Amino acid sequence: MKIIFLGAPGSGKGTQSKRIAENLSIPQLSTGDILREAIKAKSSVGIEAKRYMDEGNLVPDHVIIGIIKERTGEKDCSNGYILDGFPRTVAQADALTEMLVAENQNLDKVIYLEIENDNVVERLTGRRVCSACGAEYHIKFKRSEKAGVCDLCQNELITRADDNEEKIRTRLEQYDQQTSPLIAYYEERNLLKKIPAKGDIQEITQNIMNALEG
Ligand code: AP5
Repeated sequence: MKIIFLGAPGSGKGTQSKRIAENLSIPQLSTGDILREAIKAKSSVGIEAKRYMDEGNLVPDHVIIGIIKERTGEKDCSNGYILDGFPRTVAQADALTEMLVAENQNLDKVIYLEIENDNVVERLTGRRVCSACGAEYHIKFKRSEKAGVCDLCQNELITRADDNEEKIRTRLEQYDQQTSPLIAYYEERNLLKKIPAKGDIQEITQNIMNALEG
């Protein structure tokens, strides 16, 4: 299966796509995670991406499209994959369509996680991430056992550079202007499935599984 997770920052794309990928035994490809790894490794892609990401802006299309073409060509993607956070512009969606046509493949579903902006701000300002292993927590919804310390590797929990109110506002503006047109794009192609993204995480996962099976 080839599935896209679409939704505003903080709608739960990462949380849900990881759970679904595990259920379906296919890899979850998060462009945000790939870029953060590139920043850690100080690669040329990471150095270019950092200045956009730290400000809450989108990384240029040519960089992202190159990353996805390379990653989806790897062996573990031969039975399908979940795209978390890609495409985010119409140009990226067109590039993906062209890539799949060239490979004689098609998309199965686009899961659109619907949420209001107020919920997003609370979710993102409260998110904490392990500085070493990347495990995610939330100060209200998913607390670590010891405040500020990762349950899995005991390293320090930090706040992502783009998880403050000012950057979140920029990310939401970018989403509204550049990414939200993809809702109509995939609706017109009969691929979009809307899932309410507020409430119990397990229940949302079940709703997504039902949509995929349907
Ligand atoms: P990326 O890392 O993809 O960030 P994002 O889209 O802003 O998404 P988030 O990770 O913030 O949120 P999410 O929807 O995954 O929610 P999550 O599950 O984590 O991208 C970062 C940057 O990289 C971009 O700004 C851009 O610069 C660049 N980039 C990436 N892809 C790009 C592309 N294609 N083109 C150009 N640039 C690109 O949940 C958030 C929090 O809420 C967590 O703490 C979680 O525990 C909590 N939570 C989740 N579900 C629930 C629930 N049901 N109830 C309560 N809390 C919940």
